[in-house]
Amino acid sequence: MKQAFVTGGNKGLGFEIAKQLGQQGWQIIIGSRDAKRGQAAVDQLSDAGLTDPQYVVLDLSDSQTIQAAAKTITAKDADLQLLVNNAGIPGDMRTPGIESSMKDLQDTMQVNFFGTFELTQALFPLLKQNHGQIANITIPTTPNKLFNPFTYQTSKGAQNIMTSSLAMSFKTDGTPVEIYSVHPGPVSTDLNGNLQADFMQTAEEAATGVVRLITSDEPKQGAFLEVKPAIGN
Ligand SMILES: NC(=O)c1ccc[n+]([C@@H]2O[C@H](COP(=O)([O-])OP(=O)(O)OC[C@H]3O[C@@H](n4cnc5c(N)ncnc54)[C@H](OP(=O)(O)O)[C@@H]3O)[C@@H](O)[C@H]2O)c1
Repeated sequence: MKQAFVTGGNKGLGFEIAKQLGQQGWQIIIGSRDAKRGQAAVDQLSDAGLTDPQYVVLDLSDSQTIQAAAKTITAKDADLQLLVNNAGIPGDMRTPGIESSMKDLQDTMQVNFFGTFELTQALFPLLKQNHGQIANITIPTTPNKLFNPFTYQTSKGAQNIMTSSLAMSFKTDGTPVEIYSVHPGPVSTDLNGNLQADFMQTAEEAATGVVRLITSDEPKQGAFLEVKPAIGN
């Protein structure tokens, strides 16, 4: 059974991606910062018909949990074929970029880039062994008048470079791991205060698009795949 690890899988888009992948036959491991929230999500995934869903505690701001999660997955789940780097935070979306606090920038970079990279690096030997794939859930980072959150875009920009740079190395070296970005488009979740508007998708709708792209047979190395364009684009 193919195994997938979805970070931030206890709620929002990550939970729906995990659910839909599981319903298509993947064995699912979710990352959750909190053990109780992880167990509650796993119970919901079992109720949705998934076979043996699991959680590991993962806080991308805490290197110890990143290394421990990778160790547990590597020891227990040797068939891991897919890492979905979904966990993410928006940072301060209101303050004008020039007034950003260093703490907000550092905290957001830590989760969306440093921690995400550290986890990817720690799981890479297993993904390489299994000829696996890494899907980075992200956003386009060209600002426009309607959508220009400095901290969020800066951190996701770094994550996007991680995709394109590692993809280039993998292509050049013949490394059997595919890495690509998936932009879901606007989704009503806790990340945006569950914003309701006609252009917003539900997490379930967006996850259907994300899972369709992830499971497609098309070559995806280095690609920036979109379910729906960002607001203002
Ligand atoms: N919503 C959108 O419109 C939209 C659009 C484009 C891209 N995305 C991307 O989609 C992804 C999922 O976002 P979402 O909208 O589903 O947001 P969400 O509902 O707020 O879910 C975010 C998930 O990330 C987890 N998380 C937060 N901080 C973490 C940390 N330090 N370590 C590990 N996990 C952490 C959260 O766990 P807790 O429950 O513990 O907080 C939660 O499981 C993000 O990468 C986001 O940038 C979202």
